[in-house]
Amino acid sequence: MKKRVLSGIRATGRLHLGNYLGAVKGMLELQNSEEYETYYMVADVHTITTPYSVEDLRKNRREVILDYLAVGLDPEKSVIFQQSEIPEHLELSFYLSSVVTVAKMQHLPTFKDKVKQYPQNATMALLNYPILMSADILIYKGELVPVGIDQEPHLEVAREIARRFNQDYGTDLAEPQRFKTQGEYVPSLTGEGKMSKSIEGSYINLTDNLEEITAKVAKIPTDSGKGESIEGGVKSLFELVGLFQGKEEKDEYETLYKNGGVRYGDIKASLSEAIFNELRPIQEKRAEFEGDPDLVDRIISEGNEEARRVAKRTMEEVRKKMGLL
Ligand code: ADP
Ligand code: TRP
Repeated sequence: MKKRVLSGIRATGRLHLGNYLGAVKGMLELQNSEEYETYYMVADVHTITTPYSVEDLRKNRREVILDYLAVGLDPEKSVIFQQSEIPEHLELSFYLSSVVTVAKMQHLPTFKDKVKQYPQNATMALLNYPILMSADILIYKGELVPVGIDQEPHLEVAREIARRFNQDYGTDLAEPQRFKTQGEYVPSLTGEGKMSKSIEGSYINLTDNLEEITAKVAKIPTDSGKGESIEGGVKSLFELVGLFQGKEEKDEYETLYKNGGVRYGDIKASLSEAIFNELRPIQEKRAEFEGDPDLVDRIISEGNEEARRVAKRTMEEVRKKMGLL
């Protein structure tokens, strides 16, 4: 039996380098291995757990799928689908919530962070976020989940729920592990925290052209070019060099920084080019899919159908074990 893999990204905008290196690269690697059956969705239901605009959600659930196809997720190898089209995720989520305490959910750092960010929005949907995410994974009996390091607390919840649920009901839900990539934590261009859609000026989108990339990289805050410890924007810059140009290049700049000095103009120019070189084929592929909306519609509806078939089967097992069938 092949191991199942499940991952998703919320429909909050086009993908950026953090999403690409932290999640999508892992999704690709597992898709291209014979050992796995891969399920990749746009987490459009999770999008409603923070304030959103209906129009943007409608647009972004398609943008994420276009980005998936552009980077090389392949409907011949992966099931590509929309979370909201598989209502069984929501059904399972409610059942799973019977083995989770309110206190446990309220103490999760990811919940606290979002409440800090949106104090008016401490909703039940937000509190239930990790349980829905657990359902997304467990309904496919997913064993591996390619996501960035920030999602680890949610996977811990998923493992605990699977364990409890199996104990209480005799189900055989797998305890999912995170699949790590080299870029599991891509730093922000601002030099503080991680690259994120919700922080303006922190990210580079997969659709940015060389000019846009160059302008954004130019804004990474730097210093005189030498010093004892590497921090803030300089740290982000060197991390990005490591991710796009290799460890050797990064080590070389770090040594120079400590022993003599670096020239940021040159470093930034060659980094911008390296990023664009990686993104160019992705952008070309995206344009092809944008030009064939019928094909994209077909891929989505076939993916939805296949995902639903598997999800329904798990739900039947679960309902039987719970005394609901
Ligand atoms: P954002 O923080 O931009 O809203 P999401 O929360 O939608 O990003 O994350 C989607 C996926 O991309 C998740 O798997 C997440 O772990 C990964 N991810 C997001 N930002 C980064 C980052 N800066 N570095 C590594 N992975 C990231
Ligand atoms: N919480 C994830 C994020 O913010 C998105 C997500 C929803 C997800 N359901 C999932 C990721 C299931 C992996 C598996 O990026």
